[in-house]
Amino acid sequence: MNDTDIEIENQKQYIEKVKKINKEKNLTYTILTMGCQLNENDSEKISGMIEQMGYTKTNEPKQADLNILNTCCVRENAEERLFGKLGELKNIKEEKGTIIAIGGCMMQEKHITNKIKESYPFVDIIFGTHTLHKLPENLYKAIEQKRKQEDIIDIDGKVYEGLPIKRESNLKASVTIMNGCNNFCSYCIVPYVRGRERSREPRKIIEEVQDLAKKGYKEITLLGQNVNSYLRVEKEKNIKFEEYQGINSFATLLKAINKIEGIERIRFISPHPKDFTDDVIQAICECDKVCKLVHLPLQAGSTKVLKEMNRKYTKEQYLSLVKKMKEKIPNLTLSTDIIVGFPGETEEDFEETLDVVKKVGYEQVYMFIYSRRVGTPGDKMENQIPENIKHQRFERLKQLVENKIYENNQKYIGTTQTILVEGKSKNNDKTLTGRTDSNKVVIFEGNDDLIGKIISLEIVSEHMWYLKGEIKHGRIFTNDAKIS
Ligand code: SAH
Ligand code: SF4
Ligand code: F3S
Repeated sequence: MNDTDIEIENQKQYIEKVKKINKEKNLTYTILTMGCQLNENDSEKISGMIEQMGYTKTNEPKQADLNILNTCCVRENAEERLFGKLGELKNIKEEKGTIIAIGGCMMQEKHITNKIKESYPFVDIIFGTHTLHKLPENLYKAIEQKRKQEDIIDIDGKVYEGLPIKRESNLKASVTIMNGCNNFCSYCIVPYVRGRERSREPRKIIEEVQDLAKKGYKEITLLGQNVNSYLRVEKEKNIKFEEYQGINSFATLLKAINKIEGIERIRFISPHPKDFTDDVIQAICECDKVCKLVHLPLQAGSTKVLKEMNRKYTKEQYLSLVKKMKEKIPNLTLSTDIIVGFPGETEEDFEETLDVVKKVGYEQVYMFIYSRRVGTPGDKMENQIPENIKHQRFERLKQLVENKIYENNQKYIGTTQTILVEGKSKNNDKTLTGRTDSNKVVIFEGNDDLIGKIISLEIVSEHMWYLKGEIKHGRIFTNDAKIS
């Protein structure tokens, strides 16, 4: 056993200890996930540990014996949201005496934990991104010793395997393939709060996906801040890893996962345009299960702004990558992330962003107003853009994106799409919902036994954020599901 395995065994003993204390108490917990999909995946691990310790999930913080907040700090509004929540929890704490635990990225920021300790002293446990696996120990100590626990380390955490996990869905699962980030884009806090890039061992990823396939999962999303540099640091620094099933790069990982029986769809986020090598493009083409929707974060269209952002590609390089991908990958669709109002962004720079949006024709654009983050180079830049200009640019971009998406959606009408049926619609239990390869929501009428199947249907209309589909009788389903 190596160090990390020993540590996990140690935590499993704490799980047993807390479970014993909680026996027959019917305790409940809530968890609020405030960040990205990696943060969601962490919440699933937290829930896995907590449920083994005898807590059942509820949606009602007022009734819960344990309230957990899993924080994000990528933009400023996350802070307002956290302190708002803490205000609510204070009353619950006073009335009922719930345990309050806060974890996640924001806890790696010293000024935030200081503020919590000063202004919200009723918080019981604070843990960071590198100490998530120690929640059983921290919870045990908080209960047994009635002492507040602060467990945050700055050094890069190791990769811990074998934590229990309680997943949100039984069809679609996220699998983290790497932690941290080495890119230091000048606006971004993530490298400071998630530490340096480190990849999971190929064997561990394959075993996790095989296990998911056995449990009936159909769709896997591979997660990381920079997935297409999977194992790069390890190779550069001669850090030993086992080349399991020939996996020594992101492309070879995709190919190996593509072979796992039972998995029908593979997605991944986020790749970095600078690392989009030809072998990855080739792997996307070759692997039938890899969805042809690629999330390709642009951030800005102006080469000057991209340089200031430390993105390491120019507008032209980005556009030629898109061109190459469109030529090589049949049925390719693209989505992206864009920031408006980065320091020094002029009207001309902003128009370059609009230009790329027009040229590429994205399926989906996630738009953000630049938010200053303490400790990043962007925060120290002098030429910050006034709030009103940032907002005006955001609105202009949003308008363009909405027009383009409307235009793009028209192309779906009359086409046949392959969708993974996910369940009943939220607001209407007579209809089902699923997603296309390009991740568009499709609503249609059909039998419940289609849930979990990949089916083909015809798109009959578009409604901005979803499409309507119809099952045409006699069509063959791809996943053994035949129409009765
Ligand atoms: N690693 C991923 C995404 C990380 S954060 C990637 O590189 O694509 C998700 C998105 O949040 C980023 O793509 C960026 O568009 C946005 N973002 C990050 N920092 C931001 C900031 N300071 N202000 C506004 N948006 C930001
Ligand atoms: Fe942040 Fe850039 Fe790393 Fe993405 S690649 S997490 S934007 S520093
Ligand atoms: Fe994700 Fe937010 Fe952390 S975007 S990595 S939860 S700062």
